[in-house]
Amino acid sequence: MLKKLFSSAKHHTTRRFYDTGGVTKSQMQSHWMPFTGNREFEENPRMIVSAKGRYLRAADGRKIFDGLSGLWTTGLGHCREEISEAIANQTKELDFCSSFQFGHPKSFELSEEIIKFMPKGLDKVFYTGSGSESADTSLKMARAYWRKKGMASKTRLIGRVKGYHGVNFGGISVGGIVGNRATFGQGIEADHLAHTMTLENRFSRGMPKTGAHLAEELVNIIALHDSSNIGALIIEPMAGSAGVIPPPVGYLKRVREICDENNILLIFDEVITAFGRVGAPTGAEEFGVTPDILNIAKQLTNGSVPMGAVICKSEIYETFLDNAGPHYMIEFPHGYTYSGHPLACAAGLATLKLLKRESSFEQVKKMAPILEDKVHSLKGCNHIIDIRNYGSSAGITLDAFEGQPAKRPFEAAMKCWEKGFYVRYGGDTLQLGLPFSSTHNEIDSIVNAIGDALSEID
Ligand SMILES: Cc1ncc(COP(=O)(O)O)c(C=O)c1O
Repeated sequence: MLKKLFSSAKHHTTRRFYDTGGVTKSQMQSHWMPFTGNREFEENPRMIVSAKGRYLRAADGRKIFDGLSGLWTTGLGHCREEISEAIANQTKELDFCSSFQFGHPKSFELSEEIIKFMPKGLDKVFYTGSGSESADTSLKMARAYWRKKGMASKTRLIGRVKGYHGVNFGGISVGGIVGNRATFGQGIEADHLAHTMTLENRFSRGMPKTGAHLAEELVNIIALHDSSNIGALIIEPMAGSAGVIPPPVGYLKRVREICDENNILLIFDEVITAFGRVGAPTGAEEFGVTPDILNIAKQLTNGSVPMGAVICKSEIYETFLDNAGPHYMIEFPHGYTYSGHPLACAAGLATLKLLKRESSFEQVKKMAPILEDKVHSLKGCNHIIDIRNYGSSAGITLDAFEGQPAKRPFEAAMKCWEKGFYVRYGGDTLQLGLPFSSTHNEIDSIVNAIGDALSEID
């Protein structure tokens, strides 16, 4: 049964009356949706009822091209049989297992596989249930590490403006997306480097040529607090959620040097960039800089079962072991009920196998110049003030309506949805994170749809 909702459109300019896929008004009103304009969604529900490969199926029967691979999660495409089967089989064999003081073989198997995708030297995997949990786990790991080393004053954390590290208290404190922080008041103490989206870098193709000097801001922050009080710097090697901000040439290398010179741990949040998004197993490998701790989630299970992980250097792990007392004592009093969940492990193993079998990283490398040329052809379109790209991702910044930065991107994304394309909007940007196997034709079509959408909005 396809039902349509007709509620008050008080807060919204355009009513579209999409199908709800059978969801009743009272069901609709029971659910508080995350990162969603709930009033608008109730007026215009965009219900997705199934998905296959690179396409979603909307409740009204339309096939929608998935221009963000789910939520940067599903690069291999949706409902992959190998992954679905692995999960289904696992539910029959071992559906849950406590990972506190007990184990199951697949979490160990998966950690060995994950390490094969990591830069050399990162060889201990700590499981979480999401990217946000990975962020907070990595920050706690960093603080506890210094305490174990007898440097308990090294607690201060540094992030970056426009950084996104999920929604938990650690993550929003080091994160640099204003709305996600301002709404919640006091977090934990943190400083922020400047972002690298400078005027000079507008319309850069791939890594901007200028901007490495912005890493020097870290020297100033260290001078202010002294390195004896600073535990870690956390950054995304390529910022994703703020609208795809690739690092300037030389920037990450300089950040690494400054951290080394000052005994500060460097954490890469690779929740978006790990497992293919930038055409390599990790951003660390692609950009040639190895952090001390690396966070993953999303593509690890192709989005099919929630799972994240924090991978650290063995020296960090050994430090915890060396200072923990008798062997039965817990070395790191941290973990989640769902850390290393058997279904997620089964999904992760199947996903990593597929990434290798389908040469996903090479697919993205081949796609990158095609997407780059196409997306930059939008320069000059209505409202566009910047375009950025790397690998299979691209960000387009729109000139904002005074005081309403999200209005144009929202309207453009809705137009794209009507045209059969899922394009994410966030802040003043439109974002693409294409499925790894996207064709030339699909790339052309989605970028053309964005161009058309922008020409149709005020
Ligand atoms: C870099 C980064 N870190 C953390 C997160 C949070 O992940 P989750 O939504 O799984 O908690 C995200 C999500 O987009 C992310 O992009």
